[in-house]
Amino acid sequence: MLTIAGCAVKSDVKVIKLGHALDVNHSVHKAMVFLAEKVDEKSNGKMRIDIYPNGQLGSERELLELLQIGSIGMTKASAAVLESFMPSMAVVNLPYVFHSKDHYRKVLGGEIGQELLTSGEEFWMRGMCFYDAGSRSFYSKDKPIMKPEDLQGLKVRVQSSASAIQMVRLLGGSATPIPFGELYTALQQGVVDAAENNPPSLYLTRHYEVCRYYSLNEHTFVPDVMLVSTHTWDDLNDEQKKWLSEASFESAVHQRTLWEESEKEALDAMIADGVHVEYPDKGPFIEKVRPMLDAFANTEYRKKLLERIEAVDESSQTEN
Ligand code: GCU
Repeated sequence: MLTIAGCAVKSDVKVIKLGHALDVNHSVHKAMVFLAEKVDEKSNGKMRIDIYPNGQLGSERELLELLQIGSIGMTKASAAVLESFMPSMAVVNLPYVFHSKDHYRKVLGGEIGQELLTSGEEFWMRGMCFYDAGSRSFYSKDKPIMKPEDLQGLKVRVQSSASAIQMVRLLGGSATPIPFGELYTALQQGVVDAAENNPPSLYLTRHYEVCRYYSLNEHTFVPDVMLVSTHTWDDLNDEQKKWLSEASFESAVHQRTLWEESEKEALDAMIADGVHVEYPDKGPFIEKVRPMLDAFANTEYRKKLLERIEAVDESSQTEN
């Protein structure tokens, strides 16, 4: 067997290794299985994606490093972790930069989304599609977070992301970066008192067994991003690139439906289990984090990017 940059060619089958850190019941994992099936179908078995879930090949950060050197061919990363590899991606991690789920989907499904996906090429990674990861909100062990002041004195787990650290600091909490796979134990042992995530991730990781308060302040809409190493991409012929691009696009469309179902299912199940789900007033949170948007707009490109996002009409029909 000949191994070339994150993919192997066995007889005439091109195999791409895809590692990620989510549970196999997560809609994003299911979308990746769908992607692999589509590639198999389109290529008539001549191209294959092998998926390694659950962080068995490393944390999101480690996987991105492996991708850059071509040790794996594909990975899925949260945009929050991705921002230190692809700086423009930081824009989607800004709190309250999107007004609603529709606004977020229109921005990512349009030209700005495309621009962000390809901005990684100079860093050896090419974005293939965005997967929906809904909105992120705080969950905590001992009391609900109803206003920023409730975060004071709390150690809050954040992703390995400068934006997430800055956001929690501005809100008054003490930000502690911890890999996703280590968080259950960290919460249980009191290394941190709170964290933030979307409903399916909170539910599927069973963090809700330890954190009984979930406050839907929806501070960010941080998407998941499917990436291919440019070492792998450049090694594909035009036909293979087409199969992979089409399959990625189709998997993203498919995942959106799965996401809606899993978000509702997760919330219902946690409420049924007795988790206190709260709907705090977002106003005070928005006020506290506003300086992040001003600080982000420190170049002409970034300033324009924020203006372009703001100008996207969330009620328009143009979405892919
Ligand atoms: C979400 C996201 C994951 C990420 C996780 C985290 O669940 O989908 O990609 O790893 O958040 O908080 O680390």
